[in-house]
Amino acid sequence: MESVDQQDRIEVRASGPLEGSVPISGAKNSVLKLMAACLLTEGTFVIRNVPDIEDVTAMAEVLRAMGVTVSRSGDALTIERPASITPEAPYALTEQLRASTAVLGPLLAGVGHARVALPGGDDFGPRPIDMHVAALETIGCRIETSGGDVYASADNLVGNLVLLEFPSVGATENVMMAAVRAKGTTVIDNAAREPEIADLAGFLNHMGGQVTGAGTSTIEVEGVDELHPVEHTVVSDRIEAATFLAALAMAGGEITLLGARSDHMAMLCRKLGDMGVRTSSDPDGIWAMCNGRLRSADVSTLPYPGLPTDCKPLLVAMLSVAEGVGIVTENLFSGRFRYVDELVRMGANIRTEGHHAVIRGIDRLSGAPVRASDIRAGAALVVAGLAADGVTVVSDPHHIDRGYEDFVGKLSALGADVRRVRPGG
Ligand code: UD1
Repeated sequence: MESVDQQDRIEVRASGPLEGSVPISGAKNSVLKLMAACLLTEGTFVIRNVPDIEDVTAMAEVLRAMGVTVSRSGDALTIERPASITPEAPYALTEQLRASTAVLGPLLAGVGHARVALPGGDDFGPRPIDMHVAALETIGCRIETSGGDVYASADNLVGNLVLLEFPSVGATENVMMAAVRAKGTTVIDNAAREPEIADLAGFLNHMGGQVTGAGTSTIEVEGVDELHPVEHTVVSDRIEAATFLAALAMAGGEITLLGARSDHMAMLCRKLGDMGVRTSSDPDGIWAMCNGRLRSADVSTLPYPGLPTDCKPLLVAMLSVAEGVGIVTENLFSGRFRYVDELVRMGANIRTEGHHAVIRGIDRLSGAPVRASDIRAGAALVVAGLAADGVTVVSDPHHIDRGYEDFVGKLSALGADVRRVRPGG
C-alpha cells in the first residue's frame, strides 16, 4: 500500500472572489451511453465534445475488449466498430464502471447476445439492474444471471409496452438502444426524462432510428432494419456546470459557464436563486454572480426535471455555511451521505437520519484532511475547501478524475487557490 505522503491529493485554501469564464465539457452521463450505442452497427463513428475523464477511458477499454478500435484526437473520439465483435464485458472492466451495463441493449440489438459481468454496488449503496432486465425481457430478450455474469440473448426483438416501475435513467437508455432494432413499436412509459436521454435519442435518430418523445415520460421507438454510423457532438454537462456554480456560491464572485445549458438546469438555478446565487442565460452559456452569505433552503432530490441527486453533495456543502437550517432529502440512492462525515470533520453541523440530512449553517468551515468517496462527493469537498479557513487536503482525487476534466486547472483559472499535489512532484 502507498504511504500517505506518496498519494496524489488536492490542496484547497479559502478563495474568492472567483471571476472569468470556464468552459463546460460534454456530459459524462451522455457520452458513456453514446459510446455504447456505437456497438449497434458496423462502421466509423466520431463523437465530439468528449470530456477527457477516466470514465471515458474505462468505457473505451470495455469497447476495445470487444474488438472495437477507439482513438482520441483533441475532444473527438473516433470509434471503429468492425463487422464482428466479441459481445462480452468481463468483471475486471465492469467493476471499474457501473455505466458499462449500457452495452447490454446495443449488444442485444447489434449482435443478438451478450455476456456482461454485473458491476456490483458502489459507495452510495446497491445499484441493481432488475428494471433493465425486466424491460429488456418485455421486448423479447432472454436473460439469466449466473456466477456474477448476465447472459442475454434475443433471436427476435419485438416491440411492446414497457412500463418502468421507476424512471430509471439506465433502464430507459438500455431499452431504447435495444428497441431501435426491434420489430414493431416499443412504448416506454414512465421513462426517465434527463437531457442525456434526449441526446441519446438524437444520436440514434441520426443513425437512422425512429425515436420520438425523448425528454418526456413516454418514449416511442419504431424499430428499423438498418442503422449507420454518425458524427455527433455531446450535450453540455449540467452536473459539471452545477459544480462551478457551487464553487461560486462558496467563494463569491462573478463567472460565466461557457456552453452550459440553463434550460437543463432550471430547478437547480431556481434553488440557487433562493439561496442567493443569481444566474441568467447568456449567449455564451450561463452567467452567475454571488455576493454575501448564502441563505439556507430545503432540498429534495428527484428524477429530472427535479433537483439532481448528483448535485446533492454540492448543495450540502453550500448549506454548511448558509444562514439558517436546511433539510436535504435523498429520494434516489439510499446511502448517499458518506461525504457528510468528511464535511463534519471540517466543522459542519450536519445530522443525518435515514434519507434526510439536517444542516445548520455555520460562519466558516475549517480545513482538514478529507477523503473523496465518489465523483460528486470529491468535487463537493474541494468546493467546501473554498470556504474553509486553513488547508483542506482531499485524498483519493482519482474519484474526481472519473468525471471531471482538469477540475483543478479550471478552478484555478477562475482564481481559486487549489492545486494538485503529486507524489514526488
Ligand atoms: C444515472 C447517472 C447517475 C445519476 C442517476 C440518477 C449515469 C452513468 N449515471 O445512474 O449519475 O445519479 O442516473 O439521476 O448516467 N434502480 C433499481 N433497479 C434498476 C435500475 C435502477 O432499483 O434496474 C434504482 C437505483 O438503485 C436508484 C434509482 O433506481 O435508486 C435510480 O437509478 P437510475 O436512474 O437507473 O440511475 P443510473 O442510470 O444508475
